[in-house]
Amino acid sequence: MKKILIAGNWKMNKTLRETEIFLEALLPADFPSIEGVICPPFTALGIANKHLRNSGLSLGAQNMDPHDFGAFTGEVSPLMLQELGVRYIILGHSERRTIFGESDECLRLKVKSAIEHRLMPILCVGETLEERERGITEKVIQKQLAGALQGLEVFPPLVIAYEPVWAIGTGKTATPAEAQQAHAFLRSILQNLWGTASDAIRILYGGSMNTRNAEDLLCQKDIDGGLIGGASLKAESFRELLAIAQQLSQR
Ligand code: PGA
Repeated sequence: MKKILIAGNWKMNKTLRETEIFLEALLPADFPSIEGVICPPFTALGIANKHLRNSGLSLGAQNMDPHDFGAFTGEVSPLMLQELGVRYIILGHSERRTIFGESDECLRLKVKSAIEHRLMPILCVGETLEERERGITEKVIQKQLAGALQGLEVFPPLVIAYEPVWAIGTGKTATPAEAQQAHAFLRSILQNLWGTASDAIRILYGGSMNTRNAEDLLCQKDIDGGLIGGASLKAESFRELLAIAQQLSQR
């Protein structure tokens, strides 16, 4: 039985002190039936790791260079992340794709490297509003998924996040039915690639998920968790999201 995964993507938010204040308010967080992950900025990973040890929650990072070391100014390697206790790595977030020009080819290298270093990728895919209105949502997310996973022969330790770009940070959430439809489509691609074993891969929904809509989204058959931006920045709302997921998983 796969555990619901609730991951907070802090993006470029929180100083060291703010990270400590958040974690002091959040912990202890006793949600044994689910998995909770916090993805702070690089600068706060060290302090977050110290607080999260033995907390039952895991640490994630928001990006990574695929190389172990070398002349890559400004980048952070998987070895450096491992050293900080990082277990999950968000890859291909739409902000990375659009603002920083990350391509499917570049993501293929990152996904492969993360898996080789035993970091669990949370690979993000999602269409823009224009693409949805043109009716090419499935085509877009299939290309993104296939592009990043190409060449992975055996079914890998992997999490997928469906994040419609138009729902990110806008307060405009996909309806549970819209999200479920996209998730079912992604699930069918994974099954075509790796058969029913791929059912173990969790597909998260991301895009204005919050304490009001989480339950309806998480109840959908193919939604296995959430990647949460805005609502993960306050300890109270993140705790409430963890509690909602915990309650659902006990039903
Ligand atoms: P949001 O962000 O919850 O603020 O929409 C989600 C994300 O970008 O991962």
